Amino acid sequence: MRSAVVGFISDGFSLVCEDIAPDKSISHRCAMFSLLSDKPSRIRNFLLGEDTLNSLNIAVQLGAVVKRDGGYVEITPPKVISEPDNILDCGNAGTGMRLYAGLLSGIDGAFVLSGDIYLRSRPMRRVTEPLREIGAKIDGRDSGNLAPLFIRGGDLKSFRYHSRINSAQVKSSLILAGLRADSKSYYREGELSRDHTERMLRGMGANIENIDGWIEIEPLKKPLNPLDIVVPSDPSSGFFFAVASAIVPNSKVILKDVTLNPTRIEAYRVLERMGASVDYILKDNLYEPIGDIVVSYNGKLNSVVVEDNISWLIDELPVLSIAMAVASGTSEIKNAKELRVKESDRISVVISGLNSCGVDTVEFEDGYRVVGGEIKKSTINSHGDHRIAMSFAIAGLINGMNIEDIDCIDTSFPNFFDILSQITEVSK
Ligand code: S3P
Repeated sequence: MRSAVVGFISDGFSLVCEDIAPDKSISHRCAMFSLLSDKPSRIRNFLLGEDTLNSLNIAVQLGAVVKRDGGYVEITPPKVISEPDNILDCGNAGTGMRLYAGLLSGIDGAFVLSGDIYLRSRPMRRVTEPLREIGAKIDGRDSGNLAPLFIRGGDLKSFRYHSRINSAQVKSSLILAGLRADSKSYYREGELSRDHTERMLRGMGANIENIDGWIEIEPLKKPLNPLDIVVPSDPSSGFFFAVASAIVPNSKVILKDVTLNPTRIEAYRVLERMGASVDYILKDNLYEPIGDIVVSYNGKLNSVVVEDNISWLIDELPVLSIAMAVASGTSEIKNAKELRVKESDRISVVISGLNSCGVDTVEFEDGYRVVGGEIKKSTINSHGDHRIAMSFAIAGLINGMNIEDIDCIDTSFPNFFDILSQITEVSK
């Protein structure tokens, strides 16, 4: 298990980031959705992280032929998705497992989805239950809640499903199942979660409409058009360096070519509310708006209460908590119970990490309170969670930090330490 020592930063920095990791959500979807076409999809800037490479491997196990040259990936789908002769390993990725569960439920064949020790302890009932209701034959440990998931794909009924959880993974899983159902299906969520699935499938020619708060999904009558896409940079990966520049005096970062999809940049809006200077420069629109984000230090941050649009910033909350820990005043995160079922229980892991750095906190069932002050140097165990490892590495800019178990960072942002070492000392 590798660890890293991050040195404190003595001076402000100015960084132009051209190589923030490509978007993880979009890369997963590229690998999967290419299977819905009958022509090769061309993807530039595919994320070469463990999570998304696992999704790509699964596409190959299902019969796709993949040519890869760095981040350029050409995926030629099989005529018919074939039954794999081995389990499908999603690694650490909830997105991989939940979306493939929806996609495969409607395909003739037997499929077993599994993953690493962390993924095998995360709740899958949120997808297996609604999928079973529409006729999917799907099972797993704990009555279908825990992977490995066993799927015997076949005919699916259409549905009208109002989800209690605002989750893009649940929504996407059901949309993929709806594409194979016997007639039009309808899906509704409490507040819009990230909408890459709808945007990309529409771009490929699927009939997916928003009608009176419901998403209407028309079953596929023919294969979709292939994808031709440059994956934008991932705003949740870029956000680590956004927080770095918001907490280190005299610093500025330019994050190039990130998705400016409103469901993905809410954390930057919160950083603005805390007093950081943030500019968005729209440059392109390919399936989604894309552009640069510029974040500069603008004085000590103010405290903030975060309780709305939680699904729009759920991935950024751990590192936002680092910003809260150095802000003046007491900040709060509420309505974020979902944090407990991410790659780790991010409420308890963030709280214990902050406490060990001398930060006062109060834990709630659905969030926490952080009393702004000083972040002292400490030793943090990532609990195998990439965003915990990276969040506390950024906290290390203040007084240094030891991070244990850093390999998980490769799931989403393999060059994270290369970029961090441009602004401070890192030894591994
Ligand atoms: C994702 C959706 C989010 C997010 C995850 C990626 C996706 O999960 O936390 O990192 O690609 O759809 P939920 O939809 O379960 O909240």
